[in-house]
Amino acid sequence: MKGVILAGGLGSRLQPMTRVTNKHLLPVYDRPMIYYPLQQLVFAGIRDILIVTGGHHAGDFLRLLGNGQDFGLEHINYTYQEGEGGIAEALGLAEHFAAGEPLCVILGDNIFERPIAPAVDAYREAGCRGAMVLLKEVDDPERFGVAAFGEDGRIERIDEKPTRPPSRFAVTGCYFYDPRVFEITHGLEPSARGELEITDVNNRYIGWGELAHHVVEGWWTDAGTVPSLYRATRLVAGSDSAVLRGVGDGGDGR
Ligand code: DAU
Repeated sequence: MKGVILAGGLGSRLQPMTRVTNKHLLPVYDRPMIYYPLQQLVFAGIRDILIVTGGHHAGDFLRLLGNGQDFGLEHINYTYQEGEGGIAEALGLAEHFAAGEPLCVILGDNIFERPIAPAVDAYREAGCRGAMVLLKEVDDPERFGVAAFGEDGRIERIDEKPTRPPSRFAVTGCYFYDPRVFEITHGLEPSARGELEITDVNNRYIGWGELAHHVVEGWWTDAGTVPSLYRATRLVAGSDSAVLRGVGDGGDGR
C-alpha cells in the first residue's frame, strides 16, 4: 500500500498567516502541521509516500522535508496542484504515483491522536478492495462530510456539510482506495462550491456497495480554521500519544 498526503489548496480560511507561508507548514504545538499525517503513514509502515502540494510557498515543503531522512525515509515524492480545484482533484494527481496499487490518503490538515495502523490492517485484511473511510463522532458534524447509516449498520450515504446532519459521525480526512478510484476522479463534475468533492468519490463506492468504515480511537481534529488550529495545538500539547511525537522518540513504529 502506498501513502498520499493532500496538502494543496490556498488555505484562505487561515489568512493572513497563509499570505506568507503554506497552511500545512504552520505550527501545531511543536512541529509543522504536515508532520502529523506524515508520522501517521510512517508509523503504519507505509514508506512509499507522495505529497501533493499547492498554493503559495510550495517549495518550502522540499526545504523542510527533503527526502524524509528525519522520518527514516529514503525518498519522498512530490507533485503540485494548480489552484484549488478540490480534494478529489488533488487525489487525481496521484494516479501516476499509485501505478495500480491501493492507497492510504490523508488530508494534510488532519491530526489523529492514535495510530491509524489498525485501520490499515483492517483494509489489508479486506484484500485492499473497494474503499474505506475513518469516522469519528463529533459535536459539530455540520462542518464535515457526515455518514448516514442504513439498517444494516453500513453507510448508505455521505452528506457534505449538511445543515441537518443525519448522524454525529464525521467522515475524517483519512481514506483507503483501490485503483478504481481514478476511474471515479476522471468523471467527476465540480460541486456548487466549484470543487471536485471527495464525498462524491465516496458516495460512488457506496453505490457499488463497496464502502467500509472504521471508527477511530482517540481524538481527531482538522486544523484548517483559526478555532480548529487553536484546538489542535491544545489537544496535541495535552496528549502522550507516541504517534504525535514521531520518529526518534520511540514513536516511529520501526
Ligand atoms: O477534515 C475532514 C473534512 O475534509 C471532511 O469531513 C470533508 O468531507 C472534506 O470535504 C474536507 O472538508 P473541508 O472543507 O474542511 O476541506 P478543506 O477544503 O479544508 O481541505 C482539507 C485539506 O485537503 C487541505 O488541508 C489540503 C487538501 N486540499 C484541499 C483542497 C480544497 C487539497 O489538497 N486540494 C484542494 O484543492
